[in-house]
Amino acid sequence: MAQEDKSAPVADVALRASHLTKRFGTRTAVRDVSFDVYRGEIFGFLGPNGAGKTTTVRMLTGILTPDEGTVSVNGLDLFSSLVQAKMRMGVIPEVGTIYVDLSAQQNIELTGRFYGMGKEGIRRRSEELLRELGLYERRNDLVRTYSKGMRQRVSIACAIVHEPSLLFMDEPTEGLDVQSRRLIIATVRRMNMHGCTVFLTTHNIEEANDLCDRVCIINNGAVVALDRPGALKCAFDSTQSVEAVFEPAIGADKAGDVYCIKVDERGDRLVFQTDDPDATVRSAVSFAQESGLRIVSLVTCGPSLEDAFVALTEGSP
Ligand SMILES: Nc1ncnc2c1ncn2[C@@H]1O[C@H](COP(=O)(O)OP(=O)(O)OP(=O)(O)O)[C@@H](O)[C@H]1O
Ligand SMILES: [Mg+2]
Repeated sequence: MAQEDKSAPVADVALRASHLTKRFGTRTAVRDVSFDVYRGEIFGFLGPNGAGKTTTVRMLTGILTPDEGTVSVNGLDLFSSLVQAKMRMGVIPEVGTIYVDLSAQQNIELTGRFYGMGKEGIRRRSEELLRELGLYERRNDLVRTYSKGMRQRVSIACAIVHEPSLLFMDEPTEGLDVQSRRLIIATVRRMNMHGCTVFLTTHNIEEANDLCDRVCIINNGAVVALDRPGALKCAFDSTQSVEAVFEPAIGADKAGDVYCIKVDERGDRLVFQTDDPDATVRSAVSFAQESGLRIVSLVTCGPSLEDAFVALTEGSP
């Protein structure tokens, strides 16, 4: 699978990482990582704990200097045009950096001033974001009194107050409830619809699957795959399965006559791994008839991004 697409015209590349390497003492956290993020896409960056995601994001956003390699933003070298590049970026770091002794509104306004926005622009944008992110009612309360999900929403409002063209998010929905997660995802989609390129680090495979145009999988500091979610899934199409519930329920050891590579029990379901779902379904139906079992459900499951992720990151510490 391609790790670096040299075919994209430079004008279409919002962010280029070239051969990034970072060592901490004797440990290499990121090794020779290269990829292009295209203008206007949502680029997912996926990997297990300790894979090197945050270290990479910190290099891409100019917080950490790489030991080797370069980063370019809109064709300009990040480190030689740091201020210019940072003015166009929004960053939601892994650990929040908002001020807990200020209110949500004060945090947003302060960040707007930092980006050199005018008073009227700040007022308009701040009201818009407070409403969009469900914080308007509590806008004057100190952030100290907010829940985790509310704090994360303030952090997002601050990151996008200046309408950046490149937004970095390091696990923005980690540990949040459904409502906060939805508000955040809706905001990401809205920003993207207005042309913002999004670099999204996540553990949440479903989120990456739903949201991202392309996904880069990193393991042990190195890129192991980079493609569209659909293409990544298809590369692992041998992992298709058929799930069956029979009545009365039977154990996996009793279903040996059904065509499959392997059968597992999950609760009252039998999961048949197969290279030919059609043959497995037919065989499961005949098996049920011959054995006098009722079929409660029979579902074919396509390959999932999770299967691809697990296969590619097997053996990580
Ligand atoms: N400041 C540091 N000093 C020493 N080692 C570090 C430092 N920052 C990161 N590391 C190490 O680099 C490796 C990659 O860490 P990183 O935080 O980039 O992983 P991650 O993919 O973001 O993980 P997580 O999913 O847990 O957030 C880990 O082994 C970590 O211990
Ligand atoms: Mg991290």
